[in-house]
Amino acid sequence: MGAEQVAERFTQLYGTEPEGVWAAPGRVNLIGEHTDYNDGFVMPFALPHQALAAVSRRTDGVLRLHSADIGGGSDGVTELRLDTLAPRSDDNWTAYPAGVVWALREAGHEITGADVHLSSTVPTGAGLSSSAALEVVIALALDDLYGPGLPRRQLARLCQRAENVYVGAPTGIMDQTASACCAQGHALFLDTRDLSQRQIPFDLAAEGLRLLVVDTQVKHAHSGGEYGKRRAGCEQGAALLGVGALRDVPYADLDAALARLGDEEEVVRLVRHVVSENDRVERVVSLLRSGDTRAIGPVLTEGHASLRDDFRVSCPELDLVVDTALTAGALGARMTGGGFGGSAIVLTEAADVDAVTKATEEAFTASGLTPPRVFEALPSPGAHRLT
Ligand code: GLA
Repeated sequence: MGAEQVAERFTQLYGTEPEGVWAAPGRVNLIGEHTDYNDGFVMPFALPHQALAAVSRRTDGVLRLHSADIGGGSDGVTELRLDTLAPRSDDNWTAYPAGVVWALREAGHEITGADVHLSSTVPTGAGLSSSAALEVVIALALDDLYGPGLPRRQLARLCQRAENVYVGAPTGIMDQTASACCAQGHALFLDTRDLSQRQIPFDLAAEGLRLLVVDTQVKHAHSGGEYGKRRAGCEQGAALLGVGALRDVPYADLDAALARLGDEEEVVRLVRHVVSENDRVERVVSLLRSGDTRAIGPVLTEGHASLRDDFRVSCPELDLVVDTALTAGALGARMTGGGFGGSAIVLTEAADVDAVTKATEEAFTASGLTPPRVFEALPSPGAHRLT
């Protein structure tokens, strides 16, 4: 759905034209998983799939929200009074945009209401940040319309607050920053401690390479307990090691750190993943900067093994994608996002795309599973105003 259609639907719903239409993308993460809540490094890029929002201001303290395709969609408009917005009061998709309005107001920005129509092509529950896209598109629209003119990083922080406090999912800052800050043709090398960032050119097509996203369609949910347990375990590891966050353990000191943790086996595995994963991000950055793109494949695969064996957030379907793709000749593969389902990424020679896709589909069918959705990911623009 394009800007014009979203604006037209807005006009049908609310009887006037919207003041504008905005877009914010979903993302895949190339490398750097479960590092963001440890103040570590990540490297996402934006997908062509986006959430679009047509928005107008209101002055009467009312927020009206509508979507025909998010969360099953509905014909009805949800009407909320701004002064009654409260954390954990909503378990529908509307909690994401409402949470952003709540977070902006909590931070002291004067928002007096809005009419909103949203439409999204970011698959939900696929580990591709459909919720961050919803948050960021609303934050950007309201920031433009109400004029605080906040820096993108601050918008991302407000969106994270909406997700952590209002929705109640204890996620890190990667997804919102990716949606707000990514640039076309680039991956975003982000230091989640201070949100400092570098855009790293990532033009796979020019090198005869492709990056496939393979959505297993196994659903995941981050407000569920497992994500929170990993996060708590990492915090316990940092406390035991006497550092502010696991980011503060240099890779060169990993063995010594693990020795200090002794028989805290669970914490040992979490720490080993986070510290080695930060190192993998730095390795990928330097390989890309030196033009050695094919060499990132094995680093991605190493990251998957660490998520599967140490961090334990993979699942049989994700492992099946990775194993099958590698056997079919892919250069590297790993789960992406929080895990427990969702999507994997596969780096492959352009010439091998069909073979890898076919092998994956056949492996799923042979295991009695619904074949995954496979698409090619091109690094796309971050959030922006369309009209
Ligand atoms: C989810 C969270 C992110 C990040 C990833 C794992 O996508 O929203 O903040 O923690 O999982 O890297």
